[in-house]
Amino acid sequence: MSFMKRHATLERHSLLLTVGILVVVSIGGLVEIAPLFYLENTIEKVQGMRPYTPLELKGRNIYIREGCYTCHSQMVRPLRDEVERYGHYSLAAESMYDHPFQWGSKRTGPDLARVGNKYSDEWHLDHLIDPRSVVPDSIMPPYAFLAEKKLHFDGIEDDLKALRLAGVPYTDDMIANARADLVAQASPNMDYDAEDALVARYEAIAERKGTLKISDYDRNPAKITEMDALIAYLQMTGTLVDFSTYEADDLNNRR
Ligand code: HEC
Repeated sequence: MSFMKRHATLERHSLLLTVGILVVVSIGGLVEIAPLFYLENTIEKVQGMRPYTPLELKGRNIYIREGCYTCHSQMVRPLRDEVERYGHYSLAAESMYDHPFQWGSKRTGPDLARVGNKYSDEWHLDHLIDPRSVVPDSIMPPYAFLAEKKLHFDGIEDDLKALRLAGVPYTDDMIANARADLVAQASPNMDYDAEDALVARYEAIAERKGTLKISDYDRNPAKITEMDALIAYLQMTGTLVDFSTYEADDLNNRR
């Protein structure tokens, strides 16, 4: 049987053809994708990146739960207007610990990849309670209830363990102290030893100082609320990598 004849058999049987296509396409896919899992430099490691603290992680979970990603992206594209508005374009390393990532595809509001340190905690508090109190024309919905809701963090160790399975380098120490770390980050001046321990744990992985902020984010020392967690998360975004010292091929070198 000649080659052409064999091919005719394949073309006449749709099931056989489908199987044949699947085989060929998967070989192509494997050849392209599999090496990415083994290459050392698929994601360039960058100084400053560290896993999220338990409080930031809780805030991130609230961000996802409330669907903030339906209006906000978290990815600055390497285009001039974006870089001028939001800052350095996003690096792959900046979302290496994100499961799931929050790149988003819709911008009803601005990108939030670098909103950390752009405003004060009070601004975020006012804005989330009533966006129009600080941005009169805002169409963002209010999230005032977050300031009332007590943050439940009994299962926080499990969150860290699950992320560790996905490759986030949480240590046993971080998991064992997750609750203490969460409380310490939202309760400044309460227990200095706990604060120091928290900072030491996370900055050791970041290999950079000043990536961790301790604050009573919602200005209510009486309780730790969901608002505390969400603002802690927002204030961290985009602050881990120090772009004043970061060097990579910049846009001009890429041409
Ligand atoms: C219906 C769309 C919508 C949703 C949902 C939404 N936002 Fe917004 N957001 C906006 C718009 C529009 C703006 C710009 C006007 C303003 O600042 O209020 C904005 C602005 C912001 C800003 C200020 C950004 C800057 O750089 O000035 C922050 C921070 C923010 N949103 C956080 C959140 C968080 C956190 C959530 C989820 C709890 C959320 N947003 C949900 C539409 C939305």
